[in-house]
Amino acid sequence: MSILVKEHQFHLQTDHTSYIFHVMANGELGQLYYGQRIHDQPAFPELTVREEHGAIPAWRLDQPDFQPETLKQEFASLGKGDYRDPAFQITGPDGSRISEFRYQDYRIIPGKQRLTELPSTFDDSDDDAQTLVITLVDAVTNLTLTLNYAVFPHQDVIVRSAQFTNQGQQTVTLNRALSLQLDLPDANYDLLQFSGSWARERHLVRQPLRSGIQSVGSLRGASSHQQNPFIALARPDTNEDQGAAFGFNLVYSGNFLDQVEVDAFDTARVLTGINPTEFGWQLAAGQHFQTPEAVLSYTSAGLNQLSQQMGTFYQHHLVNPRFAQQPRPVLINNWEGTYFDFDEDKLTAIAREAKQLGIEMFVLDDGWFGHRDDDTTSLGDWDVYAAKLPNGIAHLADRIHGLDLQFGLWFEPEMISIDSDLYRAHPDWTVVAPQREMTPGRNQFVLDMANPAVVDYLYGKISKLIKEAHLDYIKWDMNRNITESFSDTLPAERQAEFAHRYMLGVYQLYARLTTDYPHVLFESCASGGGRFDLGMMYYAPQAWTSDDTDAVERLRIQYGTSYGYPLAMMGAHVSAVPNDQTGRITPLETRAAVAYFGDLGYELDVTKCSAEEKAAIKAQVAFYKAHRELFQQGTFYRLDNPFAGDGNVGSWQVVSDDGRHAVAARYQILNQPNPAYHRLYLRGLQPDQRYQVAGDDHVYFGDELMHAGLFVPHLLGTTQGVEASTDFSARVFVIDAID
Ligand code: DGJ
Repeated sequence: MSILVKEHQFHLQTDHTSYIFHVMANGELGQLYYGQRIHDQPAFPELTVREEHGAIPAWRLDQPDFQPETLKQEFASLGKGDYRDPAFQITGPDGSRISEFRYQDYRIIPGKQRLTELPSTFDDSDDDAQTLVITLVDAVTNLTLTLNYAVFPHQDVIVRSAQFTNQGQQTVTLNRALSLQLDLPDANYDLLQFSGSWARERHLVRQPLRSGIQSVGSLRGASSHQQNPFIALARPDTNEDQGAAFGFNLVYSGNFLDQVEVDAFDTARVLTGINPTEFGWQLAAGQHFQTPEAVLSYTSAGLNQLSQQMGTFYQHHLVNPRFAQQPRPVLINNWEGTYFDFDEDKLTAIAREAKQLGIEMFVLDDGWFGHRDDDTTSLGDWDVYAAKLPNGIAHLADRIHGLDLQFGLWFEPEMISIDSDLYRAHPDWTVVAPQREMTPGRNQFVLDMANPAVVDYLYGKISKLIKEAHLDYIKWDMNRNITESFSDTLPAERQAEFAHRYMLGVYQLYARLTTDYPHVLFESCASGGGRFDLGMMYYAPQAWTSDDTDAVERLRIQYGTSYGYPLAMMGAHVSAVPNDQTGRITPLETRAAVAYFGDLGYELDVTKCSAEEKAAIKAQVAFYKAHRELFQQGTFYRLDNPFAGDGNVGSWQVVSDDGRHAVAARYQILNQPNPAYHRLYLRGLQPDQRYQVAGDDHVYFGDELMHAGLFVPHLLGTTQGVEASTDFSARVFVIDAID
């Protein structure tokens, strides 16, 4: 049993954690404990704080020590004495914004059902999940609030969401409806967030919590390059290998808010959900509103463990089971190789060469439709550009398939160009507010995904191509954020619903396509990693991690991303040098050594490579395929942090479930004369097992490799007479058990 219910007390137990809450004296829910697993008890009197503080509002005259502001609450409202930011807020028909949701009953449902309109977690594999549904009622508005807790015991994960149902006669307005609240009894934590920009996504930022509100979020209509919905709270002494840490993520791709509020008593309230700015929802009689799901996890064993357990959870309970464990193909994408300048013969020549190198899939990127020669035209016109590809996409696809390669195609479904037949036919399908100019972004505009006709149109266009060209893969891009939020399909009082309805339209299109064409592998993309989130991952098992393909930048981007997402979710490509984003020239070996730790691809014109480069790529692809299961499904460890110190060294490792096979890599950004000695301490091996490190005659025990480490020789043997710089160098270590 993972859900233990005593009188008005709920104890959710996973293999290593306990999450406990109860019904408080006022009938609302109070949080008691979340952390390392503890024994169940009939009651936990020491876990509630009932101390009377002067001048703080109390619930009732006869309960002066029941002061909502001082209590750990489970899903708090504003207006009855708790002044912290609330989990929700509702305006009733009379304009009042007070809610008092009192406990009514609970149900325990075996397993975990999917949500119907939103991406969500599931338990298809009978992994012992159970769902606790708590029902609360506000007697004045006649609203029901259900709080859902899905407990996944073996990954130490709890998934939460809330649903509001209007059982009354009159419409109410949801001004705010977050997915998760967690009140922690102290604030002695560091907040780990993953911040950046286009081409510099998800850099680790770690700061101690301070008094007041600290938050990350997005109002861009996408989860964004700038912030990511994944955050963690870790004790100050928590590192990769030990210490307490909580992880929070949201199964959502639009505007989000992750917030931690530290109050006067140094308690910390975590809130996660749809960003309340740009949100409002009219809840008419009989209607319900379902929040996105929030994923919550705890470990006392450090940040590597936190990433591993959350990553394993996603692979088993979020990612489409058809693809979750399936080896992802090594692909070649023509974008950086040709940009818009291609024809069928040029593409086929690249594909033919790629096939020789062992690559398994060819992806045709932007520029194949309408009359698109640059980024100013044709978005929305998803018909072949006959001047470039006179024989059509299906003919090209046949040639690619004839080479025994899979074929993938790029779309940017949510966008429209002014210079397009679609815009000429349906200008009203473009997102713009009445009497306002449309704000361009990358010369393009946004389609109103809240309009069902738009979703139908896109479904028709994309399905036709899937069928005609027998597509194996689709790259779904999104290259600008939303402005002038407004939908012609919504009445004035519902316009605040636009941002969420836009996401529901995106999800509906994804759901229809993935249901009707289940064999198609989707890769999501938003100018690189601008929508790298769990909402997307539900439909698209992998995502283009960043437009930045420079090995040095990618090391940090992939390292940061790895805190919240497993390697199988990260598209990672080797491109040409000088790099198109940074101008940096890094060795081909280093570019590959970074891209191995993800879903490997190449993004360059291989017909222009020298014979040596082709031989190197061929060897890289063969190496990756030989270790693909490790790179895509193995247990990932961060070893040396490229965000720490002078950031000159980074290293990481993947290891098989049985601990018998591992690949580690160490990267050095700039070479330095007489640098400090460096040892690489491996993780996850069997201490008593003998191992061989490829290229090294010595036989090691696992404990030596983990605790004494491998000596990493100075990569520049001498400071005299050096011909090649060893800046941007990488060493890859292959470790195998020997019997
Ligand atoms: C942005 C993507 O991130 C790139 O990989 C490429 O697909 C371009 N868009 C095409 O316009």
